[in-house]
Amino acid sequence: MLEHACFDAPYYRPHRFTHSEFLSYLQNPNAVFLAAMQQQLLVGYIAGYRGVRSRSRSARIESIAVAPAARRRGIGGLLMRRFLDVAKRRGSSRVTLEVAAANERARQFFAVRGFKPVRRLAAYYGGRYDGLRLGRAL
Ligand SMILES: CC(C)(COP(=O)(O)OP(=O)(O)OC[C@H]1O[C@@H](n2cnc3c(N)ncnc32)[C@H](O)[C@@H]1OP(=O)(O)O)[C@@H](O)C(=O)NCCC(=O)NCCS
Repeated sequence: MLEHACFDAPYYRPHRFTHSEFLSYLQNPNAVFLAAMQQQLLVGYIAGYRGVRSRSRSARIESIAVAPAARRRGIGGLLMRRFLDVAKRRGSSRVTLEVAAANERARQFFAVRGFKPVRRLAAYYGGRYDGLRLGRAL
């Protein structure tokens, strides 16, 4: 399953989306959920919220994942570009996300796409592993 394959690191295991969390994106009008399909199989997704609930109009990315066998072909970058486009069109002027400090690959992926550290979040993952909040303007 995509969620297990993508979030196998100890800092992410307790934070994997459950079935009902995935379903909640379908019911929330402020949710943005984009899926990448190949040959009728889900190979990646990005999930978050546009920023209407916050005064800062800041959108949030809750998760992005691409199946290991489908990586480094531009799918993650495409999902990110589409999410940023949708959030901007729906009125967000900024986007934030959290990433595990130890997740070097994802940190590099986000840095290349203009995300800068906002602050360090001590013991944010599993009560043990630090996170980083990243942000960028839209
Ligand atoms: C982070 C993640 C989503 C990136 O997905 P991806 O599909 O591999 O992303 P892309 O292919 O667009 O980009 C990855 C790298 O591949 C390279 N790449 C893209 N297309 C390529 C191609 N056709 N040939 C060779 N390399 C390519 C890019 O240069 C890119 O490097 P960069 O980030 O330094 O620019 C993926 O690694 C993942 O699912 N990780 C596990 C989950 C996770 O940690 N999520 C983030 C925390 S929420």
